[in-house]
Amino acid sequence: MNSLLLATDLDGTLVGDDDATQRLFNALDSLRANKDVKLVYVTGRSLELFKQLKSENNLLDPAALITAVGTEIYIDGQHLEEWPRVAGWDVEAIKSTLSNIPQLELQPETEQRSFKVSYFLNENPSVLADIKNKLQDHPVDIVYSQNRYLDILPKCINKGSALNFLASRWKIDHQNIVACGDSGNDINMLERHNAIIVGNAREELLKWYAENHQSTYLAKGHFANGILEGLKHYGFVD
Ligand code: GLC
Ligand code: MG
Repeated sequence: MNSLLLATDLDGTLVGDDDATQRLFNALDSLRANKDVKLVYVTGRSLELFKQLKSENNLLDPAALITAVGTEIYIDGQHLEEWPRVAGWDVEAIKSTLSNIPQLELQPETEQRSFKVSYFLNENPSVLADIKNKLQDHPVDIVYSQNRYLDILPKCINKGSALNFLASRWKIDHQNIVACGDSGNDINMLERHNAIIVGNAREELLKWYAENHQSTYLAKGHFANGILEGLKHYGFVD
């Protein structure tokens, strides 16, 4: 029996059109007759905000859950302590380095995670450049999405590396993985796999697509309709 690992972002990708989400779930159910289908949610949200979204939107239980932009992994509800392994990550040093940038507003406590420091920042290229500059000697990556969310993460820890970690743990081949997203914090997982950009994607992701990433499938359909369309494109669904 061959397999499919469907890794999908939630807000703006799987979630956004309830009927489409249920249609996709039904299609995955039918696929399960002859495929080992693993559904993985990959979100920027903390576990707490994920639980809220899940109950509001009737979402299936995933085989695994990647939260906080790839910095936490849960399998069968259990937090995987061995992820991530990082050196030199220092939350206090990051916060104090950025403390005198008035445009930065810390996100709520639930979204400050052991390996993620998150701010709100309304689009401002010069401030972004300043932040990158100030953090250049720190072992971090900076992810900016939706002209509003700024996440500081340990270097090389992101949605993509977390997904790769899961795939190698489960021994799932690259060609059996499909990743889906709608915004900037999804880029790391889209560039390494069969990937679907939903039709309602944000400007930063469309820009990335236009910059030579056309092997990714850009769906016409929005939200989960786009996912279903992409699964057909890759031949997983008739
Ligand atoms: C989610 C998280 C937030 C993060 C954003 C972008 O909204 O709650 O902390 O900044 O995703 O990754
Ligand atoms: Mg999203």
